[in-house]
Amino acid sequence: MPTSTARPRLLSVAALAVAAFGLTACQPTAPAGSGTPPAAPTPPAAPAPPKPSVAKSSFGTLADGTAVDLYTLTNANGVEMRVTNYGGIIVSLKVPDKTGALGDVVLGFNRLEDYVKDSPYFGAIVGRYGNRIGGAKFTLDGKTYTLSANDGVNTLHGGRKGFDKQVWTATPVDKADGASLQLALTSKDGDEGYPGTLHMTVTYTLTDANALVVDYKASTDKATPVNVTQHSYFNLAGEGVGTIDGHVMQIHADRYTPVVKGLIPTGELAKVDGTPLDFRTPTAIGARITSTDPQMVLGGGYDHNWVINWPPGLAADKLAPVLRVVEPTTGRTLEVESTEPGLQFYSGNFLDGHHVGKSNRPYVKRAAFCIETQHFPDSPNQPNFPTTIVKPGTDYLSQTVFRFGVEK
Ligand code: GLA
Repeated sequence: MPTSTARPRLLSVAALAVAAFGLTACQPTAPAGSGTPPAAPTPPAAPAPPKPSVAKSSFGTLADGTAVDLYTLTNANGVEMRVTNYGGIIVSLKVPDKTGALGDVVLGFNRLEDYVKDSPYFGAIVGRYGNRIGGAKFTLDGKTYTLSANDGVNTLHGGRKGFDKQVWTATPVDKADGASLQLALTSKDGDEGYPGTLHMTVTYTLTDANALVVDYKASTDKATPVNVTQHSYFNLAGEGVGTIDGHVMQIHADRYTPVVKGLIPTGELAKVDGTPLDFRTPTAIGARITSTDPQMVLGGGYDHNWVINWPPGLAADKLAPVLRVVEPTTGRTLEVESTEPGLQFYSGNFLDGHHVGKSNRPYVKRAAFCIETQHFPDSPNQPNFPTTIVKPGTDYLSQTVFRFGVEK
């Protein structure tokens, strides 16, 4: 993965100029007739390499008067990510293409009001339970909990006022290898129907190797389901630049969880063999997206959970390879690794052009895709799926890494 962009190259040219000037203009001369050899010139100090940084500015005010901030994280290569503490939303993410030119690869808005008014979770942290819980209820330890139904009869992405609509407490974190910001939130007992007070932190680190590392941590005082994920909409050609049909995707999964109407899993882990969900060899996203396969019709495209192949012997808390995607015209690549067993790959089927984004372009159907690393949908009602229940005394811990690169 290339780690240098135009910026360090410019700096090194500047450094050479300074060095040359220093040697010619500041050469010390020996006093005449002193006989002492001239002192060796002091080499000019090497310019300090650019340091990762976090800068804070205002992103506006909510209707209730709450001030909202915008944080700009910049790594040593000039890769830049803007994050607001409203919903922990990644507002922009600028990464290099094969020529070194930075481009913004996530959908979003310039103004806080647009996120508040009508956003399909652009860039947000979703929780407590990312994805769906069927019938907006589940039973735990003999007690049935009723959640907010915000997606027909089901609950989606935490309910009516999920983590994506909360103001988080943001704190820059000192890290040697990148720019980092921690977001913290307390979700009260009964929030959207979920039991237990949940203390949640999400830490974004933009590393000097051009990776975005997302660390999730939570603790609770009562058993409760937790399934938090990141809902960025990616288009590696640039936000607002056409559709994602030409991106070539590889997903490391032999199985997926088929769904019924409403996108609730049947509980089965089905093989991808012979279906449009088989991405085991790199395939253009658009190649089979309009297939009449019943699963594709139910999703209106890709909106499914893949069961990630867990490398034999790899501990459950370690990172497993999830996917790799390449955008052929810019050469931008994205590789994802996660400790999560599932991936919701959503191909932006509900986008319809009515959202006008940061550069004034409409976000058309399939203008971007989401890579939601997570546990499987509806796990609290599916005894055969890995559990999502977090208990007092044991922290919820999860990590996903998004590595940006280029191929020429
Ligand atoms: C997730 C869901 C989709 C849709 C989007 C938001 O990816 O799986 O069905 O709800 O979020 O529009």
